[in-house]
Amino acid sequence: MNFDIYDEQKLARQLQIQKKKAWDIETDINWSQGIDLSKSFLPLNNVNTLFKNATPEQLRVISQLMGLIVASTISQLENVAYRLKVPVWENFLRKHPVNPELLELGEQFFEEEKKHSRAFNKYIDLFASEVNIDPVDLKRFLPKAHNTAIEKIYTLNSKVGGMAMWWLISAVEEESILFYHLLNEVKENVDPLYYNLHRCHFEEEVRHKSYAHMMLEVYNEFVNTPSSYVFKKVDFILAEVLNMTWTFSQLLKVKELKKYKNHHEFFNTLSSCMDLLEGKSQLDILSALFHSTPYISHTIHLSEHGHIRELLKRYNTSKLPLPNSRIGEILCTV
Ligand SMILES: [Fe+2]
Ligand SMILES: [Fe+2]
Repeated sequence: MNFDIYDEQKLARQLQIQKKKAWDIETDINWSQGIDLSKSFLPLNNVNTLFKNATPEQLRVISQLMGLIVASTISQLENVAYRLKVPVWENFLRKHPVNPELLELGEQFFEEEKKHSRAFNKYIDLFASEVNIDPVDLKRFLPKAHNTAIEKIYTLNSKVGGMAMWWLISAVEEESILFYHLLNEVKENVDPLYYNLHRCHFEEEVRHKSYAHMMLEVYNEFVNTPSSYVFKKVDFILAEVLNMTWTFSQLLKVKELKKYKNHHEFFNTLSSCMDLLEGKSQLDILSALFHSTPYISHTIHLSEHGHIRELLKRYNTSKLPLPNSRIGEILCTV
């Protein structure tokens, strides 16, 4: 792992680079280009296990829906991280001060996450206006974390001294980097605004992802209370279980979008896609998503990421005994 919490010069240099290269949500993203609804958002692979005989239009709409789910997941989870800034970071580093550089880097880290959350949220708002629906209505059916059990449990965990949130942040960052790589392979077929948003996100994630690793390192070195031994063992499992139950419950909500089929062709086609799922149980759908859609299986299965596995080994942390998912051939729908 490429970090050293005591190398003050390196930390200061990293902050300088992050500040210098930071993008601006209004001026560096061309929102005025709008969303090209004739393009896909996210690639789908092995999708025919779920949607047999789907037309190219249906596959494109499914890809757009998956893209919205991902945008909402990033926006929501990064916003939860920002809202927990005081217990998971400020109070913690005040109690275990390392150096001012690590503190300043943290300020920058949280500002970047807040901005990312706003940027993905703005994309969803724009999409809602393109498909003739109130953004509030659309967001009701997309992943939401604010005021839900997931946010409450992370808040509780951080208040009693756990670090589950930093495990989640690490995994979401790995996930965001994976999304960009997947999109980059098929970028000619992807909505340009969706692609650029992920590209901007990817750039800052790569620059700041070591921060979550450093916070886990501080925890490991400085916190040695009896309860911390338990947290060190189970925090990752807590993050995995919470993430899995949250993702499953959030994915099942999208079926309700059917009722907007008279609003726009997007919803009409989406409604016809839902008909293709007729006769399949929720378990069939979730199992197919888990095994055949890399970004969903990785979202659910946090320890699939290489860097997460390294961290688990480094801190001798337990994980759930889950089967490996497969990253198969990636197909784009248009
Ligand atoms: Fe981010
Ligand atoms: Fe991040």
